[in-house]
Amino acid sequence: MVDVTIASGASEDLHAAMQRLVPQLSSSNPPPSFGELDRVCRHEANSFFVASDETGIVGVLTLVMFPIPTGIRAWIEDVIVDDAARGKGVGRLLNEAAIEHAFSQGAVTVDLTSRPSREAANRLYQRIGFEARETNVYRYSKPEQPAGS
Ligand SMILES: CC(C)(COP(=O)(O)OP(=O)(O)OC[C@H]1O[C@@H](n2cnc3c(N)ncnc32)[C@H](O)[C@@H]1OP(=O)(O)O)[C@@H](O)C(=O)NCCC(=O)NCCS
Repeated sequence: MVDVTIASGASEDLHAAMQRLVPQLSSSNPPPSFGELDRVCRHEANSFFVASDETGIVGVLTLVMFPIPTGIRAWIEDVIVDDAARGKGVGRLLNEAAIEHAFSQGAVTVDLTSRPSREAANRLYQRIGFEARETNVYRYSKPEQPAGS
């Protein structure tokens, strides 16, 4: 039985779970410290969804919502389900909970991005009902500083 809740702050269990889960999403970003995780959970734009089963925390998802002149933007970020718990619908449950919450808060669309190489994620999102948008996604990165400067 999987239960999905919104974390109101960091806890030792959640912090420990993130040390395990974040490396399953990103090799370049280290897991958050307790304080960083607490800030993520408590940030007014964020709803931090946590999926748990009888074994403990098995997945997380961050829903980010913020007002813009044309409405309320809702983004799903950092969806991670523990390797040992995949293929049982946890990812779907997390996304459905986030979508329902976003709509209940006034959003009428929910956005996310996923690299094509993330095959399981792309299949899941499409199965849930996300549709690819015709748009260009740009990123501007902070230039590297020369060593010693
Ligand atoms: C992408 C990810 C979140 C999916 O999580 P998940 O919990 O395995 O997702 P679901 O179980 O809801 O769906 C995955 C598959 O299980 C199947 N499934 C769902 N419920 C099921 C059930 N009760 N029994 C068996 N299979 C089931 C789904 O049909 C789906 O099959 P598909 O791969 O053929 O589409 C997970 O693979 C993950 O964390 N990957 C690494 C990080 C990542 O890429 N995150 C996304 C960043 S954009």
